[in-house]
Amino acid sequence: MSQELQKAREYEKIHSAFTAPADRPLFHLSPCVGWMNDPNGFSFYQGKYHMFYQYYPYDSHWGPMHWGHAVSEDLLHWTYFPAALAPDMPYDKDGCFSGSAIELPNGKQLLMYTGVRRERDEHGELREVQTQNLAFGNGIQYEKYEGNPVLTEKDLPEGGSRHDFRDPKLLRCADGSYCAIIANNHMNFGGQILRYRSRDAIHWTLDGTVSSNQNRIGLMWECPDLFRLDGVDVLLASAQDMLPKDFEYHNGNGSFYLLGQYNAETGRFSEESDHATDYGIDFYAPQTVLTPDGRRVMIGWMQNWDTCNMHTRSIPWFGQMSLPRELSVRDGILYQQPIRELEALRKSFVQHQNVRIENEEIRLPGVQGRTVDMVVELEPDGELFNRFAIRLAKNRVYQTTVSFRPHESVLKIDRKFSGSRRAFIHQRRAKVRHDKGRLKLRLILDRFSCEVFVNDGEKVLSMTVSTDLRAQDISFFADGRARINVCMYELEE
Ligand code: FRU
Repeated sequence: MSQELQKAREYEKIHSAFTAPADRPLFHLSPCVGWMNDPNGFSFYQGKYHMFYQYYPYDSHWGPMHWGHAVSEDLLHWTYFPAALAPDMPYDKDGCFSGSAIELPNGKQLLMYTGVRRERDEHGELREVQTQNLAFGNGIQYEKYEGNPVLTEKDLPEGGSRHDFRDPKLLRCADGSYCAIIANNHMNFGGQILRYRSRDAIHWTLDGTVSSNQNRIGLMWECPDLFRLDGVDVLLASAQDMLPKDFEYHNGNGSFYLLGQYNAETGRFSEESDHATDYGIDFYAPQTVLTPDGRRVMIGWMQNWDTCNMHTRSIPWFGQMSLPRELSVRDGILYQQPIRELEALRKSFVQHQNVRIENEEIRLPGVQGRTVDMVVELEPDGELFNRFAIRLAKNRVYQTTVSFRPHESVLKIDRKFSGSRRAFIHQRRAKVRHDKGRLKLRLILDRFSCEVFVNDGEKVLSMTVSTDLRAQDISFFADGRARINVCMYELEE
């Protein structure tokens, strides 16, 4: 084991003990210690789910990337494993960036990741050069392949930048061979997703372009994933530097999905539609896994690159993953539902039916808490109301709001009063479908986050909230007359 990896493992062992479990999310994965970004190598291996993550143990801000590692049986209770990769080779000395994992026929787990080294370019400017690399492991220890890097700038198509060539996603082809789809920046067209093929998962050749941005959605694309679901092919990616388009793509850097048909022969993805994957503030770089019972489950990094470095250095951990979400495709939309394993965490149950709210803010007995699974069914009571709001993580000082204006069909999340002392992004709006004011919302709260699933997962809005955990109240407000059914479970370990 390299000195760098040993140092990271010793550091995390000592320093993770300083964070009490109660100071972390209950069922969302957070870093062992220090900084976390993208999910990496999300896979099912030897009977357990493995999640690796972009990781810098020594600070709660981004630094030279390692791969953290955690393992779970239900995607909700996580056990930390020792860090899997450290930047300890000439080709990855400045970071082991994102990548993926696959099980080989010999029972080993293969990781493919992006190695980053900084080098002076022809103008004397220090720039990253990105290559693809392999590591073989047994679920705990990973050995980098002695033939690394396995893909370099020599393997790029014309116009492809060696500075932006990253985030390989490994796929198994129907004939037993392997595919890797990798993000790249084309000098004229912006992001593109390249396809590489291999018989043995070690020797790779370029074999087509899956999709090309053509300067539509942001600039560079990152972190691709590709799978077939409900008769449609889905290409996930995350775009940097997006221009907002109506109610889509408001996040600066944000994740999106393309629905269409993937031609396995040519490697080409013919797209039929594109949408944001999450309409909230914090969601990026998702990866998916196929569960043993055939569900496609997605987890993203529940953060936003524009705001993620606004916290003070002194906090022991920063960054968390989203809730694992079960995916399905219906009517041209990628639906997301909280993973059903969450139901096992449901404890005390409270239900309130047919509650009338008229120009007032009310509280309902038993409806409160910061680890909550709550469904709210809303409908007008007579004439269409102007605005309805749920306020959560609330006390006299704080509140975070999910509000709905049916006349505009706009759902808004607002964490301005969540305890943040910084003027970064606190609000996001999404257009939602409703039947004359009828809307169904499912809210999942986990201490420092709120994820809002609209109409059984047609849209999701995710946000982190740093609010003092003593702010436990939840209230309901209507401008006009509304009626609600509320069904709430407290979630516990
Ligand atoms: C996406 C990303 C990836 C890269 C990693 C670096 O959030 O920028 O493209 O591999 O983060 O930490």
